[in-house]
Amino acid sequence: MRGIILSGGSGTRLRPLTKITSKQLLPVYNRPMIYYPLNTLIKAGIKEILIIVAPERAGDYLNLLGSGKEFGVKFTYEIQDKPEGLSQAFIIAEKFIDSDHVAMILGDNIFEDDLADEIKGFKSGAKVFAKKVSDPERFGVVKFNNQMKAEKIVEKPKEFLSDYAVTGLYVYDSRVVEIAKGLKPSVRGELEIADINNWYLEKGELEVALINGEWEDAGTFDSLLRVQNLAKEKLADKMVI
Ligand code: DAU
Repeated sequence: MRGIILSGGSGTRLRPLTKITSKQLLPVYNRPMIYYPLNTLIKAGIKEILIIVAPERAGDYLNLLGSGKEFGVKFTYEIQDKPEGLSQAFIIAEKFIDSDHVAMILGDNIFEDDLADEIKGFKSGAKVFAKKVSDPERFGVVKFNNQMKAEKIVEKPKEFLSDYAVTGLYVYDSRVVEIAKGLKPSVRGELEIADINNWYLEKGELEVALINGEWEDAGTFDSLLRVQNLAKEKLADKMVI
């Protein structure tokens, strides 16, 4: 299993905090934000990690994280020239993934749960992690039928569809590269992660695991404030990095 941390984008929603640095490098209690998703991958035993960054911030990431030796892993870096969608990561990562499985986590996603066993237990197809939230309009959501079987995944539906958000951790087999290459940009001009997930779902190869602990996407001022406390109260003692 290889790991990707997608840490590009321009962080416009967090201006002026992100005027001179990347959102995913902002402090979350006593660590840079990216340490939390990195911790999730490292705990799962992933040793080869690709960090995808925006061109103007690449130097900052290299200065902070270096080769990975300090963390007992190996980092590779790639530049995403423009934030053209989450799924673009798999095209950028084609050589890195090769024929391995891959777990991608977003650099602003912070999980309370230890998901090591969930990640290690992956065999093939796709696996995503969902969480019931009070503000589903902010996320990709998954609609379940009466038997809690996933029916479809929709990115930020305009009308209420489900209050189960799909979190920013995705595990795929190596087919994901070819699937991503076959995608067309959505109306908002992005290669959507929902399209990859629906590809696997339609084949009956998508597993949706529910997570119990807290989860935050630290992409807004309010969620950034919440993760400070989450990190202090529940995460700081359990980090391996
Ligand atoms: O946090 C979970 C949510 O993340 C999911 O529920 C959604 O399905 C998924 O689309 C995503 O939604 P966001 O609204 O958070 O997407 P955003 O465009 O803010 O991008 C998420 C992170 O990924 C952000 O920290 C920046 C980075 N990113 C984003 C894009 C589109 C990149 O590095 N490159 C990109 O091209």
